[in-house]
Amino acid sequence: MKKRIVGIIGVGHVGAHCAYAIAIQGIADEIVLIDANAQKAISESQDLMDSCMYFPHRVDVRPGDFADLKDCDVIVNSTGNIDILRNNHDRLDEMDFTIKAVSGYVDKIMASGFDGVIINITNPCDIVTSQIAKLSGLPRGRVFGTGTGLDTSRLRTCLARETGVDHKSINCYMMGEHGASQMAPWSAVSFGGRSLEDCAKTDPRFQFDREAIRKEAIAGGWVTFSGKFCTEYGIASTCARMVNIVLHDEKQIMPVSAELCGEYGEKDLFVGVPAVIGAKGVEQVVELPMTDEEYQQFKGCCADVRKNMEHIKDIK
Ligand code: 2OP
Repeated sequence: MKKRIVGIIGVGHVGAHCAYAIAIQGIADEIVLIDANAQKAISESQDLMDSCMYFPHRVDVRPGDFADLKDCDVIVNSTGNIDILRNNHDRLDEMDFTIKAVSGYVDKIMASGFDGVIINITNPCDIVTSQIAKLSGLPRGRVFGTGTGLDTSRLRTCLARETGVDHKSINCYMMGEHGASQMAPWSAVSFGGRSLEDCAKTDPRFQFDREAIRKEAIAGGWVTFSGKFCTEYGIASTCARMVNIVLHDEKQIMPVSAELCGEYGEKDLFVGVPAVIGAKGVEQVVELPMTDEEYQQFKGCCADVRKNMEHIKDIK
């Protein structure tokens, strides 16, 4: 039987937590860890293997090199330098470091013969995802980013608190940049199939301050960051879920950083949108009906990402 193999590049706080989430949920049979600090990959592998006896499923975790990524079904890219975010709480500050880092090894991934799906976490997520897709030459959809998948989970937490409805019975999305300018299309929010608009007509729990909730969802990452100088569980759970969806060809609709090729009137851009995820990665971008105001907000988010991308050409 074919083994499900996942490679993780960069095993700092985020990569190591992804490996743990994937291992403990029995998502992969083998996990290959790669880090610029080879000893870190060896140490994380050892620590995870020391847990194996108590995991519900068998998994083999081993340190590796780029050549070992050949047989991976999915690669998680989580390289970074999180300390850069301490000053401004702005993911763009990591860009000079991360664009240079990924540009230095995407060819090594492809030289291994890898032919699977790459899920990027590294920030600024939309821009780094776009760079990996470009350098890898993989077909459209096979590279996508965790993007606003994590922010959507933060939004659901806020909505679950306000309304008392369980996270999984709420349908909502954060869209646009995985950063300060993302938006929430409120007209697409529903609770067990009943629109927010309809619920709010009679029930005060649904009459919350929408803009305050949007801001709270965006700020959630920085609440986590300010006490521990990294974020781990949220992003690891988001990514592990996405890996599972790809490995099982689930066709679940998830908010991810996906390439737009005409959808929402945009092209040549990676940005957070709902998309059908399956074995081929992003298999379809879902175009939500939006109000004119929401559409303009989303276009503004796209313009922001495009503007920030211009900085790539100055990175030496
Ligand atoms: C997060 O949102 C910092 O991008 C990271 O958790």
